[in-house]
Amino acid sequence: APYLVVMAGGIGSRFWPFSRTHHPKQFHDVLGVGKSMLRITVDRFQGICPPENVFVVTNRDYVELVQQHLPEIAPDQILAEPIGRNTAPCIAYASYRIAQRDPQGVIVVTPADHAVQKEDEFRGVIRTAIDAARTQDVLITLGIQPSRPDTGYGYIQFHDDEAQQLGGGLKKVKTFTEKPNSQLAHMFVESGDFLWNSGLFIWRADSILRAFHHYLSDIAEVFDEGRMLLGTPAEKGFIQQAYSRCRNISIDYGVMEKADNVYVLPADFGWSDLGTWDSLHRMGHHDADGNVVDGDALLYDTRECVIKTPSERLVVVQGLEGYIVAEYDNVLLICKRTEEQRVKDFVADVKSKK
Ligand code: GDD
Ligand code: MG
Repeated sequence: APYLVVMAGGIGSRFWPFSRTHHPKQFHDVLGVGKSMLRITVDRFQGICPPENVFVVTNRDYVELVQQHLPEIAPDQILAEPIGRNTAPCIAYASYRIAQRDPQGVIVVTPADHAVQKEDEFRGVIRTAIDAARTQDVLITLGIQPSRPDTGYGYIQFHDDEAQQLGGGLKKVKTFTEKPNSQLAHMFVESGDFLWNSGLFIWRADSILRAFHHYLSDIAEVFDEGRMLLGTPAEKGFIQQAYSRCRNISIDYGVMEKADNVYVLPADFGWSDLGTWDSLHRMGHHDADGNVVDGDALLYDTRECVIKTPSERLVVVQGLEGYIVAEYDNVLLICKRTEEQRVKDFVADVKSKK
C-alpha cells in the first residue's frame, strides 16, 4: 500500500494569534467541524494509506499533540524534528525512513493544513497519481486552477503536446516558479497557462531520493551518512546533528523548480490552503454582509470581516469594514484584511519584546 507523509511541523505564523507556537493551527479545528486539520488530513486518505503506512513529521515539541490527535499511528512513525528546516529536510527524513522499509514504495506527501471540499474527487485523483508514480521515475504534483494572483503559491506551466504526456492526464511540467513576485503572478494568471502547485506530491521513495542526490546533494549526504542509524536507538542523536547540518529550504525551491521529471495532474477538488486569515474569509460561511463569524458576536454596520473569538466571549463590533478580529488565549488581534501579510512581522515583534 502507498505511504503517507504528513508535514505537520509549521507554526502557522500567518494565522496568529489563533495559531501559536505551543499550539499551531494544524491541531486546531480551524473549519469549525469538530476535527483538527491534522485529523481531517489523515482521514482524507482512508482506504488509500493504512495507519501502518502513515508517517507524520513534526517538531519534537508537538509529538504528544500528534499522538493525541492520531492515536492509531505508532509512535515510531511520528518523526520528531529538533528544529524546523522547512519542507526539504522534512521530506528527506521521512523518505529515508520509508526507503529503508520499502525502497520502491509510493509516497504521497501532504501538508497538514489544507481544506478539500470534494473528497471523492480527491481520492480519485490521488489514486491516478499513485498508479502513475508506481511504474515511472516521476515527481508528481497536483495542479489547481488559479483564481487570483496570489504570491504565496508555486506556479506551474506545462507542455501541451501529446508527446509530453503520461497516461491518466499527467502533463510534463515546463516551468515551476515558487512564490513569484506580484507582477509575475499577474502575468501567470492572465495568460491562463499556469496552475497553482497544491503542495501535494506523489512519487516513489527511490525517485525522490534520486532527486535529493541530484539537486540537494548536501542534504542527501547528511542522511546517507546516518541511514544505517534510522530505526535504531541512535536515530534521535543522529537526527539532532543532521538537522543542525541541513540548510533551511523548501522542496519547491530545492527540487520542484529544478528537476526535469516533474509532472502535474490538473485537479479540481475544492482545494484551499488555509494558510492565512484571508483564506478563512474566502472559505468560510458568509453572513448577509460578507462577514465570516466564529464566536458570539453582535455586529452593527460591519462588513467583510473575519471574526474568530472564544465562545465564552461576547464581542460587539460597530462600523468595521474589511478587518480581522481574532482572539485566542491572551492575545487579541485587530488588523486590516488587506494587510494580513504583516501578521508574521507582528509575531516577530511580539517575540522580541518578551
Ligand atoms: N515537519 C515540518 N517541518 N513541516 C513543515 C516545515 C518544517 O520545517 N515547514 C513547513 N512545514 C509544513 C507546514 O506545516 C505545511 O503543512 C506544509 O509543510 C507546507 O508548508 P507551508 O509553509 O505552508 O508552505 P507554503 O504554503 O508557503 O507553500 C507551499 O504550499 C503551497 C500550497 O499551499 C508550496 O508547496 C507552494 O508551492 C504551494 O503553492
Ligand atoms: Mg501552506
